[in-house]
Amino acid sequence: MKIQKFLIISICLFTTFQSFAQNDTKKMDKFIKKLMKQMTIEEKIGQLNLVTPGDGILTGSVVSKGVEENIEKGNVGGLFGIHGPEKIRKAQNLAMKSRLKIPLLFGSDVIHGYETTFPIPFGTSFSWDLNLIEKSARIAAQEASANGINWTFSPMVDIARDPRWGRVAETAGEDAYLGSQIAKAMVRGYQGDDLSKNNTILSCVKHFALYGAAEAGRDYNTTDMSKIKMYQDYLPPYKAAIDAGAGSVMSSFNDIDGVPATGNKWLLNNLLRDQWGFNGFVVSDYTAVNEMISHGLGDLQTVSALALNAGLDMDMVGEGFLTTLKKSLSEGKVSEKQIDAACRRILEAKYKLGLFDDPFRYIDEKRPANEILTEENRRFARNIAAQSCVLLKNKNNLLPLTAPLKISLTGPLANDKSNMLGTWAVTGDPQKSVTIYDGIRNLLGSNSRMIYTKGCNISDDSLFAKHVNVFGTRIEIDKRSNEEMLKETDDVSRSADAIVAILGEASEMSGESASRSNLDFPASQIRLLKSLKKTGMPLVVVVIAGRPIILDEVMEIADALIFTGHLGTEAGGAIADVLFGNYNPSGKLTMTFPRNVGQIPIYYNRKNTGRPQSGVEFEKFKSNYLDVANSPFLPFGYGLSYTNFEYGDIQLDKPILNDNEPITASITIQNTGRFNGNEVVQMYIRDYVGSVSRPLKELKGFQKVFLKQGEKKTITFKISKEDLKFYNSNLDYVAEEGDFKLMIGTNSDSLKEINFSYKPKQ
Ligand code: BGC
Repeated sequence: MKIQKFLIISICLFTTFQSFAQNDTKKMDKFIKKLMKQMTIEEKIGQLNLVTPGDGILTGSVVSKGVEENIEKGNVGGLFGIHGPEKIRKAQNLAMKSRLKIPLLFGSDVIHGYETTFPIPFGTSFSWDLNLIEKSARIAAQEASANGINWTFSPMVDIARDPRWGRVAETAGEDAYLGSQIAKAMVRGYQGDDLSKNNTILSCVKHFALYGAAEAGRDYNTTDMSKIKMYQDYLPPYKAAIDAGAGSVMSSFNDIDGVPATGNKWLLNNLLRDQWGFNGFVVSDYTAVNEMISHGLGDLQTVSALALNAGLDMDMVGEGFLTTLKKSLSEGKVSEKQIDAACRRILEAKYKLGLFDDPFRYIDEKRPANEILTEENRRFARNIAAQSCVLLKNKNNLLPLTAPLKISLTGPLANDKSNMLGTWAVTGDPQKSVTIYDGIRNLLGSNSRMIYTKGCNISDDSLFAKHVNVFGTRIEIDKRSNEEMLKETDDVSRSADAIVAILGEASEMSGESASRSNLDFPASQIRLLKSLKKTGMPLVVVVIAGRPIILDEVMEIADALIFTGHLGTEAGGAIADVLFGNYNPSGKLTMTFPRNVGQIPIYYNRKNTGRPQSGVEFEKFKSNYLDVANSPFLPFGYGLSYTNFEYGDIQLDKPILNDNEPITASITIQNTGRFNGNEVVQMYIRDYVGSVSRPLKELKGFQKVFLKQGEKKTITFKISKEDLKFYNSNLDYVAEEGDFKLMIGTNSDSLKEINFSYKPKQ
């Protein structure tokens, strides 16, 4: 009786909820149908036009002209690069003067925080903490929306296996599984559960697709890969973001199978809409429609028609749609139906954001002061930054440092606000960031001493510095000679208790159009390290960079080494917290670090090949190099702690998996060291035999667990058929019967193992 009642109530609730959603859709359809009936073809095409008045960062060669006039004429669907209620109100007011008063979208590259800047995405991925990452996107949405923004060009979910590519800094690294979890968390954070709230914003998944696979790591370069690799290794994070409800997608600059993504019908129509069921809108990347002319696909009219027919809805900046679609319509090169479909998708996004109810929903002059860069947000930024630090070496437990002590703080990144935020932090103010110097200073008591000296330049190469400094000085070449700088640091360091050197990349040494063919640690900085070593003093090195770089010499020289991405507004406090043990580092690398550039591309989920090396030594006619080992310098998932975690053996509740019930794997982990700490426990699976060759291991789960000193915990993972699935030669997503290896451990190279079998019908 009770059960029946429960069922009836649940069914009612479910149908109420369902009919609410259906009602909403019905209402929206009705509204948009009515609106579109009144729209001229020019007004419809106008909605497909995204412009920037040039108030933000310019990444291409074009800035839109006559923006204000065009808004009033109904020639603009959205605007990006302007911020703040005052300016945004002005622009929205112009839209309200247009004939049909259709509100504008206001976009922005909110990539790793808004004004409160969090670590670059590559850095936050080291936290392996989905709650933290989701919260960072939530705070970014809160701040951005307080400043009038309702659409972010994030998350960037491109898989990156080539550290020469500068945009590695904006990614979550090399792994499709981890990348997918992070993509979902970001979308949830930005969009929340109701897009029409004034503190949630529309997300835009980018860059669709395969942008991270640019040949030779050179930005905007061509990509070419098999469909099976695409489906298996590169597409999952985009799909995960779409499954999480992302409302828009940005097409990438590169070509796929010869056709640029922006005009690629297979990609935008067949895959994205037909196979994945995406029903939001697709915007091009910056002038990507026009760039199809250089790709060799035709003149502006031809490429604009190609893009629309392929399924692109909105043209960013280039105005190819605005200036040619009407002509193409009259010549029968595009159909009105196609223009209507694109227009409708953009209007639907505006409807879902609540802009037709209130075009000024996100515009409130009182919000910025109360909601942006608040103390609470800064505290969160410091916490996520600390959790994004990876400990790579800690000889004789040099870290954490204990005060009181005399510190020689050195290195070109130690006292430099301009390099704290990292790349693509266009809405952050570097002047409001905390340097490492200030962070340590604020933490040290008055009985400790710290002296700062620069020590060296980030790079001594003035041409390289010129290339990096396009948007302002990031590499400042000192007027003093190298010898003078080294001598100054040497004098201070000899009388210190410990040296802390803050080294690495300037923020714009990675990011867009910041590819590098040489990933060696800058010679100027190695020179400083060698000189510091000669003092014989304990040497702590913190490397801040936007990508994996070659760390062999640094690792050898440093007594303790921390690696991290550019950490954002609260960089200084976070690094101080880690150095002095307020936070015990728990970060784990999300890309494999190569020994040299010749090993690239190098990634953990590689295949065995037909001629695998049997050990670590060179073997003739085996798959290896004459001059370097096969193994990476640092494996995926690597990172140490101030404490030790001991792993027991894996136990399975049953040896055979069937379709009905998952296997439960458990493992006991004990904190056997001297500190409390977080450990990221990683679970990998190998499929021994398949209809296609399968990787040696693939990440299939992870948990971040907190263990007090001496504490022991048993962690469990459930393994189901879903975890065994892969794309076969027909691109079907299947699990095949057979034997598997389950691996659990602290990084992809240090794992406990056990075998199990999958028999679907047991
Ligand atoms: C970048 C995008 C960005 C866009 C708008 C392009 O150059 O590739 O990631 O969203 O500019 O700023």
